[in-house]
Amino acid sequence: AATANYTFTVASMRVNRLCNSTDIIAVNGQLPGPTIEVNDGDEVVVNVTNGSPYNLTIHWHGMLQLLTPWADGPSMVTQCPIQPNSSYAYRFNVTGQEGTLWWHAHSSFLRATVYGALIVKPRNGSAYPFPTPDQEVPLVLGEWWSQNVVDVEKDALMSGQLPSRSDAFTVNGLTGQLYPCANETFTVVVEPNTTVLLRVINAALNTHLFFKLAGHNFTVVAVDACYTANHTTDTLVLAPGNTVDALIFTGPKPAGSYYMAVQPHDTISPATMATSDDDSTATAILRYNGTSPTATPAMPAMPTSSDTSTANAFYFGLRGVKAFTAVPTKVDVNMTIELGLGQLPCDSAQTSCNGTAFAAAMNGVSFRLPTRVSLLEAQFKGKPAGVYTADFPDGPPGSGMAMVEGTKVRSLPYNSTVEIVLQNPTAVPAENHPIHLHGFNFFVLAQGLGTFTPGNASAYNLVDPVSRNTLAVPTGGWAVIRFVANNPGMWFFHCHLDAHVPMGLGMVFAVQNGTAPGSILPPPPADLPMC
Ligand code: C2O
Repeated sequence: AATANYTFTVASMRVNRLCNSTDIIAVNGQLPGPTIEVNDGDEVVVNVTNGSPYNLTIHWHGMLQLLTPWADGPSMVTQCPIQPNSSYAYRFNVTGQEGTLWWHAHSSFLRATVYGALIVKPRNGSAYPFPTPDQEVPLVLGEWWSQNVVDVEKDALMSGQLPSRSDAFTVNGLTGQLYPCANETFTVVVEPNTTVLLRVINAALNTHLFFKLAGHNFTVVAVDACYTANHTTDTLVLAPGNTVDALIFTGPKPAGSYYMAVQPHDTISPATMATSDDDSTATAILRYNGTSPTATPAMPAMPTSSDTSTANAFYFGLRGVKAFTAVPTKVDVNMTIELGLGQLPCDSAQTSCNGTAFAAAMNGVSFRLPTRVSLLEAQFKGKPAGVYTADFPDGPPGSGMAMVEGTKVRSLPYNSTVEIVLQNPTAVPAENHPIHLHGFNFFVLAQGLGTFTPGNASAYNLVDPVSRNTLAVPTGGWAVIRFVANNPGMWFFHCHLDAHVPMGLGMVFAVQNGTAPGSILPPPPADLPMC
């Protein structure tokens, strides 16, 4: 194993998109930021210097962070933010993970432009569990605002309304030529008769995405850096936070030029939508070597944004790989978590709010981050008083329960097996929430539409369920997940639609120490930022 060292300098940068010049916050002057590429077993050190005017943190989305919770990154959960002109070195080990992950800012809407790929290859000397590809291509899908994104978020918070919609979708930071003023389209040149591994990441803030490539099928081999049984499809579906590793097999010469197209899969009901639907299309080009660069690429037929059945067919059809899958059968902690949207009275900080504000909750608790000390520091010092309470309700909540604001965590014994029924509301307004767990992968035992009943347990897949770190809970439906709480620390569990985090759609698991060496929360690193 090696140590991979990276230096991230975060700063403002001016870029041109959609006929506008916009100041964004970016890492090392790149959009997307630098790709981190390591092998399983490596140590990773990323020295982050904040040259931006905003407080920020970086999260390594999907990294298990075994015994390195101080490097996880969510602002006020595991650390106070890195203040302007300050630095913090994130240090962690890759422990038994392979595939495509990513990193992103985890404070306010900075994630819109502070993101990049984090690729974990097999340990030195081991191979992929599929034919070694001839070429690998990271494709980071994003959302673009012509306005400053921190202002977009601030305006929404002040008014208690939902933030305005993005102005475009992007592939590797570029909109592609179907949008105005696109002077560059991300282009991959491939050889005929080869295998290409596409590493697709949905880094969008608030939009589920469909991804297609004209003239080719995908063979999905992993999602969220967890291997899957080979799954052939012509459409990839990614909730914000998800990744998909998919092989394509190129055809014989002369095969031409093809669009890779990105469109929203948007299940937001009109009742909660801030502005109208955006069905615009981001594109990148896959061109066979020998084809003229000026040839017009073929366009795939895209699903409509409301095509939930295509999305569910993709999600429900994935299977894990049996050889890597040992589902724990004895459950220690059972919970139901109901995801709710609603309204709360405006508070005094919401200066342009009129009466009530949009809010969201898990089991009726609209989650608020602490402001003076991070949850992890409070846990480490054993002094939660005034910072958090450990009374997050296990559910199921009674119907008609009033929404309350709070910093409530759920304490989990070390190494306990936790099963959670995630229930989306079945009445309008209905929305597909991508729920992300920090610090763990979880098995997806079952998913369905309507209200979960105990009888659904007979349909659990305990043989080859897919593992993930982010799961789209179906609109008007439910999902059951299971994981082993084998990592002491404070782990955020939240909706990966960034607009829903400040509204309160999250909670935190406080995993307790074990007794054996290697099961105790280590002390914070010396350079951990203070509030
Ligand atoms: Cu990718 Cu808590 O986030």
